[in-house]
Amino acid sequence: MRTVISKAVEYIERRVEKKQRLAIVLGSGLGNLVDIVTDKIVIPYADIPGFPVSTVASHSGDLVLGQINGLDVALMAGRIHYYEDGNPAAMMVPLEVLWHIGCRVLLLTNAAGSVHENVPPASASLITDHINFSGLNPLIGDHRPPQFIDLGKAYDHEIADRIREAAKTSGAELHEGVYVWYSGPSFETPAEINMIRLLGGDLVGMSTVPEVILARKQGFRVGAVSLVTNYAAGMRDEELSHEHTMREAALGSENILKLFDALLRDFNDNPLAG
Ligand code: HPA
Repeated sequence: MRTVISKAVEYIERRVEKKQRLAIVLGSGLGNLVDIVTDKIVIPYADIPGFPVSTVASHSGDLVLGQINGLDVALMAGRIHYYEDGNPAAMMVPLEVLWHIGCRVLLLTNAAGSVHENVPPASASLITDHINFSGLNPLIGDHRPPQFIDLGKAYDHEIADRIREAAKTSGAELHEGVYVWYSGPSFETPAEINMIRLLGGDLVGMSTVPEVILARKQGFRVGAVSLVTNYAAGMRDEELSHEHTMREAALGSENILKLFDALLRDFNDNPLAG
């Protein structure tokens, strides 16, 4: 294990015992999942050796360890993004650390724009695949084998089915789509959104794709869900901003909370292999 990783793992394991935990990354406005964690231990990223701290004001930046519906979880409340410091591998250390404290399944959430009229703000959408429109890859320069990572089933099919099932049992409305990674931090132009629609994209956002690539290299089974916070650029006469994202996320987060409540109950009753 790399020294930077072992220092962070040691720091965390001095506070909690090593367990097989479900790791969940909380996107903008989805921090309320932390409220349903019981027996929680909150460790600020700033205290964990080698952990990057997000500069986005609304991202709290805590690793939260505890239980949801009886299931052991490790929540990342806040994450660093490529656009913050230009490093597409910014999430490499946190993901490796989560792996080494016992996590094998990673659920990623994010706030995203929708390019479709029939997927309005406050919708939840399962990410079935992605388009890496940034042209960046977090594995460039990482020469540790395996160097070439298959992304044919990057979004685990069984996890996707379990998320669909959880939507049915909880009554949470769930769309599905392909997520397109735009580096940010500027939003897209209307012309870019038209292009994304033509290329087969359904959701657009500034995160998740590099994490999925890093997580697949590490060996995680991955699931991902977007919370739609806005119609993408040019679809409405409104100005996009981070404040707008946070406001709309608050409206839609109940839906995601309902979905995750059912999903984690199911994961606890029928553990995923891995
Ligand atoms: N574009 C990019 N990122 C986003 C958006 C968007 O429209 N909404 C929330 N995050």
